[in-house]
Amino acid sequence: MASIPETSAASPLPVDNVDDTANSPNSSEAPDTPATPDHDADDADDHEAGDDDGDSAVDVPFRESLTSLRSSIMAYQHENGRTYHAMSAGNLQHHVLTLTIEGNHCLCPKNDGAKRVLDLGTGTGIWAMEYADAHPEAEVIGVDLSPVQPEFVPPNCYFEIDDLEKEWTWNRPFDFVFCRMMAGSFSDYGSIVQKAFAHLEPGGYFEAQDMGLPMGCDDGTLTKDSDFWTWMSLVMESLQKMGRPIAAQMWKVLMEEAGFEDVTETVYKWPTNRWPREPKYKELGQWSLANMDSALEPSTLAPLTRGLGWTHDEVMVLVSKARKQLRDPNIHAYWPMYFVHGRKPLNGTEPNPTSQIPSIDPGTPQPIKNALPHVLEPEPRRLKKTQAQ
Ligand SMILES: C[S@@+](CC[C@H](N)C(=O)[O-])C[C@H]1O[C@@H](n2cnc3c(N)ncnc32)[C@H](O)[C@@H]1O
Repeated sequence: MASIPETSAASPLPVDNVDDTANSPNSSEAPDTPATPDHDADDADDHEAGDDDGDSAVDVPFRESLTSLRSSIMAYQHENGRTYHAMSAGNLQHHVLTLTIEGNHCLCPKNDGAKRVLDLGTGTGIWAMEYADAHPEAEVIGVDLSPVQPEFVPPNCYFEIDDLEKEWTWNRPFDFVFCRMMAGSFSDYGSIVQKAFAHLEPGGYFEAQDMGLPMGCDDGTLTKDSDFWTWMSLVMESLQKMGRPIAAQMWKVLMEEAGFEDVTETVYKWPTNRWPREPKYKELGQWSLANMDSALEPSTLAPLTRGLGWTHDEVMVLVSKARKQLRDPNIHAYWPMYFVHGRKPLNGTEPNPTSQIPSIDPGTPQPIKNALPHVLEPEPRRLKKTQAQ
C-alpha cells in the first residue's frame, strides 16, 4: 500500500513559483503562526477577531476543532484504503476538494472509470493514485515539473516529469484529462485547453477544478477597505502583471471556444473559516482555513516581491493583517471553487483557437451569483460569557 509523502507543494494559489525568499530564515519572522493542523492559531481565531466587538461567532477552541478534523480525515483515508503518515499540505487540500464533491474524484462521467487518464500538474500525485486505486482498469499518468511524487504507487499509475507549457509528446490519446488547482501556474491557459482537446479521443472528457478570484461575500461583512480585500486585490494584480492570472472563471469560456461540448460549470463556496452554521460548510471552512492560513505567506511573497517590487518586510506586514481577517468568523467571505468539464465531440479533430484571458478587476466584494449553496447562513453570533456569569 502506498504512502503519501509530506510536501508543502500544494496551495490554492501558486506557491510553487515562489522564489527563495519564501523559504529564507526571515520568513519565520512572520508576526503570527500559520493555522496548520500542526500549528495552533487559536488565539487570533477565537479571541482576537471576536474581541473587536466583544463577541465571537463560534466558541470551539481552534486546537480542539483541528483535533476532531484530524480524526475525520484519518477515518476518511482509511475508508479509502490508503494509509497516510501525516496530514501534509497536499493531503489537506486534496481532502477539502474531495469533501466538496462528496468523496468523488470529479464531476464528469469519468468518475465511473476511464481507460487512459492524464493528470496535469499532479503535485504529490494523491489524486492520480486514488483514481488509479479506484479504477484498476485505467492507466493513469500524472505529470509535474517537480519530482515530489512517492516511489511506491499503484501498478496502473505512472509519474512523468515534464513542462506542460511545452509541446506534449504523448502518442496515444487519452479519454480523460484532469487538471486541478493549476490557476496561476500557466501563462497561456488557452494553449493548455487546446492541447487537452488535441490529446483526447473523440468523446473524451476534460475537467478542471480550480479556485477563482475575487472571493465572494453575500452579506457585506467583507468590505472593500478591509486588509483582506486589499491583500487579495494586490495578489490578483501582481499575478496578472507576472502573466499568470488566477482565472478559474475562464475555464468554461476557453473549453467552449476550443470546441468542447456540453461544458458544465459548477461553483462551490469554500468558506474562509468556520463561520457557516451548516455542518458540512463549517467543516469545509475549517479545512480551507487550515489550508489557506499556511499558504498565505508563501503565496503572497513571490507575486508581491517579483510582480510589484515590495520588500519582504512589507509583505509580512500585509500577510499578518490579512491573516487576522481570514480567521475572523464575523467576516463571511468564501473562495469560489470552479469545477468545469466538457466533452470532445465524436467528430472532433483539431481544437479551435481560444481568446486571451482578459484582466480581471477585483471590483468590490459581492456575492458570486451561481456559487453553491445559494444560501449559506452564518452561525448565529453568541454573546461572550462575562466573569459575573
Ligand atoms: C497547486 S499544485 C496542484 C497539485 C495537484 N494538481 C493537486 O490538486 O493536488 C500545482 C502543481 O503544478 C505543477 N506545475 C506548475 N506549472 C507546471 C508546468 N508548466 N508543467 C507541469 N507541472 C506544473 C507544480 O509543480 C505543482 O506541483
